[in-house]
Amino acid sequence: MVKRIGILTSGGDCAGLNAVIRGVVARASEGLGWEVIGIREGTKGLLSKPPDVLALELPMFTGQVMRQGGTLLGTTNRGNPFAFLMPDGTEKDRSDEIIAAYRTLGRDALIGIGGDGSMAILRRLAIQGDLSLVGIPKTIDNDIGSTEFSVGYATAVDVATEALDMLQPTAASHSRVMILEVMGRDAGHIALAAGLAGGADIILIPEIPYKIANIAAKIERLKKRGRNFALAIVAEAVKREDGESAWVTHRDGETRYGGIGSYLADAITAATGAETRVTVLGHVQRGAAPVAQDRLIAQAFGVAAVDLIRVGKFDRMVAWQNRDIVDVPIAEAIEHYQAVEQDSVQVRTARGLGVCFGDT
Ligand code: F6P
Repeated sequence: MVKRIGILTSGGDCAGLNAVIRGVVARASEGLGWEVIGIREGTKGLLSKPPDVLALELPMFTGQVMRQGGTLLGTTNRGNPFAFLMPDGTEKDRSDEIIAAYRTLGRDALIGIGGDGSMAILRRLAIQGDLSLVGIPKTIDNDIGSTEFSVGYATAVDVATEALDMLQPTAASHSRVMILEVMGRDAGHIALAAGLAGGADIILIPEIPYKIANIAAKIERLKKRGRNFALAIVAEAVKREDGESAWVTHRDGETRYGGIGSYLADAITAATGAETRVTVLGHVQRGAAPVAQDRLIAQAFGVAAVDLIRVGKFDRMVAWQNRDIVDVPIAEAIEHYQAVEQDSVQVRTARGLGVCFGDT
């Protein structure tokens, strides 16, 4: 039977989304003869009249698309159907409208590519509208439960590593402490992995509380050993020493992480006299072309998601575990966000290398 499926990308973009879409389209249309349409800008596309959709066919993916960052379908992290931001600033529950519009598309199943927030929203919609949903995890933060990797994480780590590679020579030339602030809304996975790969002396993540005095002592030790520079990497969600989050409230009324790098720079200068500089990496971690690892898991997830639909398994998320793809209940994957574990191989390796987390 020819099935008709829909696909959307939701939440913040990341590298590898186009490769996921390619995986889905190749398996569904080429492999099974199904028809795939993409819904634009997450569920927001379903609020357009008619719904903003795009027929997806394999010839569209033969060229550059899967190598490119971003998502050809567009996305949004401000389109929560249950609290949709209206032009007058009020929030409205538009979930029924979205479900009704989705039904007009006559889809047998929907593939939602998202982070934990999007996955929770899509699941709620699926339950309310009795929709057949399969999830694919993506987020540079790599904090979705039940999967070792989410699409986009490997590329973000690569970008942050490259930034440390570029900061080292200038740090050494000027005898400075260079601080790199990276993304990671609640978890420190990017900072930890890139800090290791990029040879950081100090790695600060929200999971490990720090003291400025310990960071200062590390810098003094490096100095005594003849080092004229230090490299530090900090996740944006790391709090100030007094426990306050580093937030900035913007003109649009949103409060977003920002400023922990500058705070640390001043605190380190005050404690050590060292000259410090800060680089805030921001969205370049999301917009880069996907590295090989992201293209690989993206396409594997895409194929596996279609195969879940083929066997009628819904309310499941594809996941990477122990060198294989498995599927887990979406509810389980989003129950707790995946923080850095204190006894993980990366934390142990960093401690073994003498990296300072600021806790001792
Ligand atoms: O969750 C992914 C993420 O990139 C976080 O690391 C970051 O805090 C946030 O999204 C930024 O979102 P926005 O696109 O709204 O700036």
